[in-house]
Amino acid sequence: MNKSKIIIVVLVLALSAIACIESTDLSSLQPTVDAIAQRVDQLDGGAPIDAPSEVMVGQADVEFTLKTGGDGHSLVFIGVGGDIDGVVNPTLVVEPGAVVQITLINGQATEHDLVIDEFEVATGSLTQIDQSSVVSFVAGEAGIYSYYCNIPGHRAAGMVGTLQVGEAALVNGGTSIVKNPTDLPGPLGDRAPELVQVELVGMEVEGQLSSDATYPYFTFNGTVPGPFLRAKVGDTVEITLRNEMTSAFTHSIDLHAVNGPGGGAVYTSVAPGETKVFTFKALNPGIYMYHCATPSVPHHIASGMYGLILIEPEGGLRPVDREFYVMQGEIYTQQDFGSGGAMTFSADRLADEAPEYFAFNGAAAALAGGGNMLTANVGETVRIYFGVGGPNYTSSFHVIGEIFDRVYPFGSITSENLTDVQTISVPPGGAAIVEFTLDVPGDYILVDHALSRLERGLVGILHVEGEPNPDVFREGGSE
Ligand code: CU
Ligand code: CU
Repeated sequence: MNKSKIIIVVLVLALSAIACIESTDLSSLQPTVDAIAQRVDQLDGGAPIDAPSEVMVGQADVEFTLKTGGDGHSLVFIGVGGDIDGVVNPTLVVEPGAVVQITLINGQATEHDLVIDEFEVATGSLTQIDQSSVVSFVAGEAGIYSYYCNIPGHRAAGMVGTLQVGEAALVNGGTSIVKNPTDLPGPLGDRAPELVQVELVGMEVEGQLSSDATYPYFTFNGTVPGPFLRAKVGDTVEITLRNEMTSAFTHSIDLHAVNGPGGGAVYTSVAPGETKVFTFKALNPGIYMYHCATPSVPHHIASGMYGLILIEPEGGLRPVDREFYVMQGEIYTQQDFGSGGAMTFSADRLADEAPEYFAFNGAAAALAGGGNMLTANVGETVRIYFGVGGPNYTSSFHVIGEIFDRVYPFGSITSENLTDVQTISVPPGGAAIVEFTLDVPGDYILVDHALSRLERGLVGILHVEGEPNPDVFREGGSE
């Protein structure tokens, strides 16, 4: 690529099986380095000029060593030495314009290489165990780039990591896909059945997964979960699904509130640019999940294509002061939890049901701050519509410091409620409603009580303001 402000010295060192990189005398190779070196003037719009190389092995601003393999079978890069020691597919962070040296060691007797397209970096292929190769290049513009193995199938299997050039790259690129938990329509009131028309759009967006990582989300209308749909038993619901022209995948919708094969998916399979409509009659009250049902369905759901539809019963639900909309899901990235940069989807981790991230409303810790917290006042009664998009993990939903006064288990509005419940079990493809009254001010933490998931991003906060209530809760002993 011409725009790269570069480059490059490439050395392929076919070292013997015994030689390790530290003991290699690189100085003997310097004439070769000089002979093939090129440099691009970084101050002149990137126009290439001929000049002696200033990029020499051993004179890099920053050096990384990566080893292929792992424990014999996994297709990954593993960091060797320094901050990245032992890290799988470590994020390599460098300054713009830095001279970067990467040493690749083959940890397996399998063919591997390492390339970075934007900087025209290529190690050449390594075929023997302990064979190694050194590449040097000038990191150009700030941004997020991928290094990966170019042997067919290896990138998809997990041999890919992030090269982050510059600080600015940290939060760039992703739009927020987080559904604000207060963004839902209010009660429909006492009315006769009517026609409810809903317009949904399949949108694929590079969204912010965490403060320093993005993920290629699939969404309904740009958020995770999609819009909260609200109708009344006896209503006729007309669903229009349009797939954006810019989409790469076909999408569809299956609403669990539907009586009919596929829940609408067959009538709504839309290729990019297409629009389709289907209609159903809301026969059963309840809180129901909807989701994309286009194969690979778990890929589409894990990437964010789910939401809730409430079919209100005759007479509606009992009044409360505040309603919230929260859904739990898993995200399967090739990169480890906490990696910076542009994450990619891992079909292998999805098949293994081994997500790197768990999220309320689409992103790591999305509801724990940043304008998306749940807020209420002492004395108010709140209702949370809680659904699990999954696609695979049952949630043990709990609010730390509160007791659910009333629960509609499995999303059933017509069954008798449960009362005084600490934790509810909500399966993937299911939902529930919880209600409770707030007695004491402070922060209440929303979790799945399978608490390992908290450390993978699954946390939200209900912030409650009001006067202290020492009769109910106080520090110290009784008087
Ligand atoms: Cu889809
Ligand atoms: Cu389903």
